[in-house]
Amino acid sequence: MAQVSPRRQQCAPLAAIASAVPETLAAPAQAAWTIVDRLQLDSVAEREAILQGLLAPSAYLAPKLFYDSLGSILYEAIVETEEYYPTRTEHTIVETHRAEIAAIIGPHRQWVDLGSGDSRKAERWFDTIRPSRYVAVDICASAIARALARLAGRAAPPELVGVVTDFSSALDVRHALISAPTLFHYPGSSIGNFTPREALDFLRAVRDHCVVRGSGLLIGVDTVKDRTRLVAAYDDSLGVTAAFNLNVLRHVNRLLEADFDARDWRHVALFNEEESRIEMHLEARRPVTVRLLGRRRCFQAGERIHTENSYKYTEDAFRRLLADAGFGSTRLWTDAARDFFVFYAEASGR
Ligand code: AVJ
Repeated sequence: MAQVSPRRQQCAPLAAIASAVPETLAAPAQAAWTIVDRLQLDSVAEREAILQGLLAPSAYLAPKLFYDSLGSILYEAIVETEEYYPTRTEHTIVETHRAEIAAIIGPHRQWVDLGSGDSRKAERWFDTIRPSRYVAVDICASAIARALARLAGRAAPPELVGVVTDFSSALDVRHALISAPTLFHYPGSSIGNFTPREALDFLRAVRDHCVVRGSGLLIGVDTVKDRTRLVAAYDDSLGVTAAFNLNVLRHVNRLLEADFDARDWRHVALFNEEESRIEMHLEARRPVTVRLLGRRRCFQAGERIHTENSYKYTEDAFRRLLADAGFGSTRLWTDAARDFFVFYAEASGR
């Protein structure tokens, strides 16, 4: 497996990250971890797809574009805000039931962390579960590099592997896996970024990766609740989520040689009840004309770019999804207010 190449620009180049890592954490001559780079957000096809979204009558951008280097840091800040309850609630649920969940998952698993980010959620399992192998999968190379550097400094770390990839349209990380009982970890309710139809395909793909007996999926799911709380979680009073949303424009500027000015746009978060989803948009504060790969797009004042959906589920709806994806028995842990669900779905029994 090749080391990540420093050519890409949407995340800080690895060379820059390496020099930012404190001496004690720097990768030793014999690297303590491996990173495979499979991401090509700057490929012609990817750039065309982004352009197409921005030229569409109802303009849209894929939420994966949030996670450049600054975007990943802003997301880490979002989870610290008072209004953003999912991460904190998931953490409480896991802390409350950690021993029970660990006993069900089993020790020494190959641990595949989907959307690993800073890897802190996974790391909290290490002492209880002692994974033999940890595979961090994320779209942000700099986040993976920081996380693996930290994990390598632990006493007796598992084998550490990073995969920089975009699994939003198709999950395939088989090339980075060994044949062993595998736990897929998909916390934080990122499943909500998929439409229910896409979520089903994604869960089926995870299920298809579970080839060895004893494999399964530990997944966090955000629940339908009072819309005021839902909207507040995506429109926090400090404006962190607004900055996170606006930052996508900087990322697009780099990818499409575009000239968006974040000051021309306003963050909008709303709950779409029919679709059971939070929507985030960027709304033009005034008439705006942007350059995109040599083309132009005009936006009227008030016109929006749809940047994210975050679907909220009922228990029944999500159980059905897991069953339809081919998972066997499922366990559910939740908090007293049922603000968040943590499911473990066993891959056996198809
Ligand atoms: C990372 C997809 C779980 O939808 O709650 C947070 C992203 N967007 N605030 C979510 C997000 C705005 C987050 N996920």
